[in-house]
Amino acid sequence: MTPTGASGGRLAIVPGSFDPLTNGHVDVVLRSTGLFDRVIVAVLVNAEKTPLFSAAERVEIIREVFSAHSNVEVDSFDGLLVEYARRRGALAIVRGLRAVSDFEHEFQMTLMNRHLEPAVETVFMMPAEQYTYVSSRLTKEVFRLGGSVRGLVPPVVERWMQTKQGTAVHK
Ligand code: PNS
Repeated sequence: MTPTGASGGRLAIVPGSFDPLTNGHVDVVLRSTGLFDRVIVAVLVNAEKTPLFSAAERVEIIREVFSAHSNVEVDSFDGLLVEYARRRGALAIVRGLRAVSDFEHEFQMTLMNRHLEPAVETVFMMPAEQYTYVSSRLTKEVFRLGGSVRGLVPPVVERWMQTKQGTAVHK
């Protein structure tokens, strides 16, 4: 039987820490909507000890970014990704691959997820090449050192980041 998700259609999950959501992430989510009927952007809770945004803030920000896309849902999850995927009835997990350096870790995660839940496939997508160097980690580093993040993240995210200027990190 093909999982179709609770509200029907072919469902994919784009999981991640999204601290913060970058233009590369947006590119991958929008590409996923071309292949699947519905896409859930799933924010991992408790990924990092000192995140810039709390999980609840990340969900709110990402909802704002995709507010015009009725086929994109934003949610958070804790625990095993494949358990979450199974619960939501997802057909696939979508991950972005920027460079060969991403491959080894993604390959291991994919095979571990397949071992845990063979029914959920992982699909890889290359973001547009102008985003190949963009990562949440480097974006945060640039931001924390006072650099501009314009063009690296959507304007909504940039505005939210400005609210964190000079503040302590949030859990
Ligand atoms: O944006 P990230 O940090 O690269 O996303 C990593 C993520 C959330 C996809 C990964 O850490 C994950 O799936 N975590 C859930 C825990 C899990 O299922 N681990 C076992 C399988 S590898």
